[in-house]
Amino acid sequence: MRILSGIQPSGKLHLGNYFGMMQPALRLQERGEAFLFIANYHALTSVSDPVRLREDTYEVSLDFLACGLDPKRAVFFRQSDVPEVTELTWLLSTITPIGLLERCHSYKDKLAKGIAASHGLFSYPVLMAADILIYQSNLVPVGRDQKQHVEVTRDIAIKFNNQFGPVFTIPEPSIQEDVAVVPGIDGQKMSKSYGNTIDLFGDLKETKARIMRVVTDSTPLEEPKNPDTCNVFALYKLFVGPTEREAMAARYRAGNFGYGTAKKALFEAFEAKFGPLRQKRAELAGNRDYVESVLRDGAARARIEARKTLTAARRAMGIE
Ligand code: TRP
Repeated sequence: MRILSGIQPSGKLHLGNYFGMMQPALRLQERGEAFLFIANYHALTSVSDPVRLREDTYEVSLDFLACGLDPKRAVFFRQSDVPEVTELTWLLSTITPIGLLERCHSYKDKLAKGIAASHGLFSYPVLMAADILIYQSNLVPVGRDQKQHVEVTRDIAIKFNNQFGPVFTIPEPSIQEDVAVVPGIDGQKMSKSYGNTIDLFGDLKETKARIMRVVTDSTPLEEPKNPDTCNVFALYKLFVGPTEREAMAARYRAGNFGYGTAKKALFEAFEAKFGPLRQKRAELAGNRDYVESVLRDGAARARIEARKTLTAARRAMGIE
């Protein structure tokens, strides 16, 4: 089974990214043949600074490798290192009904946010369809916000196969309904745009200070506390197993347990997990050639698949 997912390079990763997207993506490595790529062509629809795009692309590849992406198991690459995908995008765009794209929520949401309505932004789902179809992917794990794009992909693939013959595998979306809700330090959903993040690999002092600032209610120290409404607990339980989670919940309920102590425990849990990864990341960062070679190898493997599909699609459409 081939499983594929793409990640846009969008700056420093935080705990919301980790538990929402990265950890599930890394778990794919165990479930089948995982293709994971950094969607830098897609990022062009929102990033216009070339220095930043190049750096963010590199940084996110370090993040993935540090957090456990195994380049021997997964095919890990930069989207743009397989330029065949842009040619397939064109082929697919000639059979994609405008109405299908006009109905996409993500496009409408981005317009509402004030992002300029470029043609690239509009045809973003066609590029995503090409990403998915060019590798004959069976399963595409995505967040709820991307489900419609996988449905568009299916529509395009079915139409193509009907019109020109069976070239594409019809992919299934795998929606992570249970994706953890990760609160930011102010209690809203953790998001870069709210400025409430705890970054994975930020400055350690700053990270600790931010954890100590997580918003809590004003229940006095002696009184019992409700773990289920506490932002600190919501973060803590992402790091620990059921036994430790229950032990912490019991301390909340018993009273005489302050939020400051809970925050210290959260910081320790954070460090137990990300401390070793930070070290690994620093080693990788000092070895840019190695990281480059991983991405190149990944692209070479991906390209073999991409060329096969593109050749079949071109032939089916009468371009040779
Ligand atoms: N659009 C996806 C996102 O923003 C990233 C992406 C690009 C992707 N191509 C993909 C995800 C193909 C899955 C499959 O999250």
